[in-house]
Amino acid sequence: MIGNQNQTRQKTNRSMTRIIPKEFLEPNWRLWSFILLIVLGVFLMAVYPVYYSSTTGLTDPFYSPTLAVVPLVALFRFTCYAYRKDYHRHVFNHPRTCEIGFRAEFKGREYTGETRLLRIENAHRYFMYFAVAILPFFYYDIYLSMVYQPGFTLTLGGLLLIVNTALVTLYTFSCHAIRHLVGGNIDCFSCKHNTRNKIFNGQTLLNAHHETFAWLSLTMFFLVDLFIRATVAGVIPNIVLLH
Ligand code: FES
Repeated sequence: MIGNQNQTRQKTNRSMTRIIPKEFLEPNWRLWSFILLIVLGVFLMAVYPVYYSSTTGLTDPFYSPTLAVVPLVALFRFTCYAYRKDYHRHVFNHPRTCEIGFRAEFKGREYTGETRLLRIENAHRYFMYFAVAILPFFYYDIYLSMVYQPGFTLTLGGLLLIVNTALVTLYTFSCHAIRHLVGGNIDCFSCKHNTRNKIFNGQTLLNAHHETFAWLSLTMFFLVDLFIRATVAGVIPNIVLLH
């Protein structure tokens, strides 16, 4: 009887691991705290929304153009190579190049990226088109922050939106999928693709700093969100820098 139960359990586990990577089925406090934080963040964003505020002229970047796009933006970030490196190493314990300390315990652990549910990582190149498509909305938000009252106004919040948009733009255009779009499917650039060659070389400069842009832009996104929430709540003023 107990043998049958064990067999059934093993069968269920096997069929689940065909779809769900085994990292999701084992005790892993890093993974579950990560998931808990995401669920909590999404819940708070849905319960306490901050859209465009006509008194400060600021639009929270998480709600631009609408909260409904957040899952696609999140998938673009989740499948980004910069974050993948970090979460595979630090959350899923795939330390293929490092075997010191506690990581030695995970020596020889099978890499499960781009398999089962994580096949979604392969769709990064498609999420990239979406990320490019929503960029103009951030520029429009900057414009709104400058014309929310008669005449031209630059506020501290507006300045933060400019920095945030610049970082998101650098992050998006330094993407490896953009690199492929610009430079893929060509055997020889210098032969007859001079313009593409120049764009590719320019993108190479950005691409070299992709990881830095990834973390800076993510951090900035949260800081701007907190700043706007604080100004809307009246906790800190949206100082006018130029008018
Ligand atoms: Fe990071 Fe594309 S690889 S955004």
